[in-house]
Parts: sequence; C-alpha cells; structure tokens
Amino acid sequence: MLHRIAEGWMKRAKVRREPVELDFDPTQADFLEKLLPFCEHPRFQSLSPNDRQKILSCGWLIYNEKTVAIETAIVTPSCNDALAGQIPGLGGDTFRHIICETLVDEAYHLLLVENANRLTRFHRDLGHIRVPTFNLVRFMEMEQAGYSEPWQRILIQLATSVVSEIFVSDYLHQLSDCQDIQPMNRATVAAHRHDELAHSKIFTLLAEAFYPALSPVEKAFFAEILPKPIAWFADMELDVWESVLQQLQIPGAASIIADCRPLNANAALRVDYSGVTELARNLGVLDTACGQDGFLALGIAA
Ligand SMILES: [Fe+2]
Ligand SMILES: [Fe+2]
Repeated sequence: MLHRIAEGWMKRAKVRREPVELDFDPTQADFLEKLLPFCEHPRFQSLSPNDRQKILSCGWLIYNEKTVAIETAIVTPSCNDALAGQIPGLGGDTFRHIICETLVDEAYHLLLVENANRLTRFHRDLGHIRVPTFNLVRFMEMEQAGYSEPWQRILIQLATSVVSEIFVSDYLHQLSDCQDIQPMNRATVAAHRHDELAHSKIFTLLAEAFYPALSPVEKAFFAEILPKPIAWFADMELDVWESVLQQLQIPGAASIIADCRPLNANAALRVDYSGVTELARNLGVLDTACGQDGFLALGIAA
C-alpha cells in the first residue's frame, strides 16, 4: 500500500497541482468564533466588533502557526531521522522514497501557510503580533529532556509525529469545508488537508513497519510514550492566546484565559483519538501494561 501511495504522489500532491488563489476579501471573517477556546466567555462576547474581528484574524494566524510548528519542529525532524537510518525498519527504498515525498509536501505546506499569514498580517494590520512556542512542541521537548539516550529522544519525536499526522487532517477539516470564512483561508486549508489525508495513512503504515523492528526495550518505551502526544496535541494553547490577547490590548485578557483553564484539563477527551487507539491496538501496544496505563492516564479506556 505504501508503494501505491508513493507512486500516486506525482498526480496527487498539491505542490504539483494548480496554485491556491490568494484573493483577500476584507468583508469576510478570517476564522470561526466557535474555534476560539473562550468563544462563550461573556467578556469576549461583550467586546467591540473591532476587537472581535482582530481576535478572529489572530485565531487564523495561530491556527496556521500551529501547523508550521507541526511541520518544522515535529514531523520534519522525524523524517530526517528516518533518512539518516536512525529508525529501525524504515531503511528500504519505498520507505525512503515516500519519506522524501512527505518532506516535499511539508515544505510546500510551510509556503502555503506563510503566504496566507503574510497576507492576513498585511491586510489586517497585524504585522506586530508574535506567536510564542506552542505547548504541543514544549511538552514534547520537555519529555525529551527527561531522557539521556538519543534513541529515546528519537522515539519521543516519532510518537509525536505519528500522533500529529493522524490528528492534523481532522484539525484542518474544521475549516477546509467552511463556507463562512475568507475564501483564501478555506482554499489554503483545503489544499493542505488534501495532502494530509495521505500523510495520516502513511504515518500509520510507517508505524506498522518500525514498531515490529524495535527491540523489546524500545517497544516498551514507545508504547509508554505513544498516548502522551494526544494530550499535547489537544491542549487549548491558552498561554499562546494569553500572550496574543495581551498584544492586542484586549481588556480583561488575563481573566478570560484564567476562566478557561479548568476546561483545558480534559482537553484530550474532546478530540477524536480513535485513529491513535486503533493504531495502538493494531501494533499490539494495548496488549502491554505500559501502553494500557498510558491511555488510561488520559481517561481513555482502551
Ligand atoms: Fe502538512
Ligand atoms: Fe503532514
């Protein structure tokens, strides 16, 4: 199946197809209110239309910056590890071929998202907004910092890549079919999602190839780590939002965010993690005590 997906890349990949239309319509909203973590908060609801519009535009910038973080800080390093021969089971020609195609896709997505954010920043006068590091990346790096062996850090990165690549098409689906936002934004997300639907399958198949090739010690380690990125990915990124709301000088920013923090405790249960649990079941991770415990710790009865 990987061979077939690899052969289809020339016709399928968005980098080889028509470019995304970049027409900006200032009358259209850049993002959906329902995707803001504080959309139901009364202080947000009572803000001026101008503040709400700026927050929506920043929602779009943050949404895109999160995909950039996934491409550059998470997935690309794992692809490079595989090409450097650091991941058992992925040394064959078909694996190397499809990993190179995936790297080209991710580099193209970076260009798509950078173009969209540059135009949004220009048209909405948001050039000054800085988006801090995402918890998704920080939590992965903190986990890596707790281990000294290179193979442990490589497997933490890889587990985060596999989970992110399974989740990212759902994450993009929140906007890819949405008729109520800026057409340029919808087109950007739809183009990205088109490629990511293949990536989620690719990373599932890669996991089915490398996991059996790991040593017993490596397998147990991977099984323990695999559920953790579910919570990292699902995190509501309230620190990023607090910083951005403060940069926008939104009144009551700190209290809006503080009120949302309890909601973040169960964030993992609000994402559709069925793709990851199915993978864990197929790999045999759920047959191990540490794999089961990891999922149970998130409140996921696997
Ligand atoms: Fe991507
Ligand atoms: Fe991807």
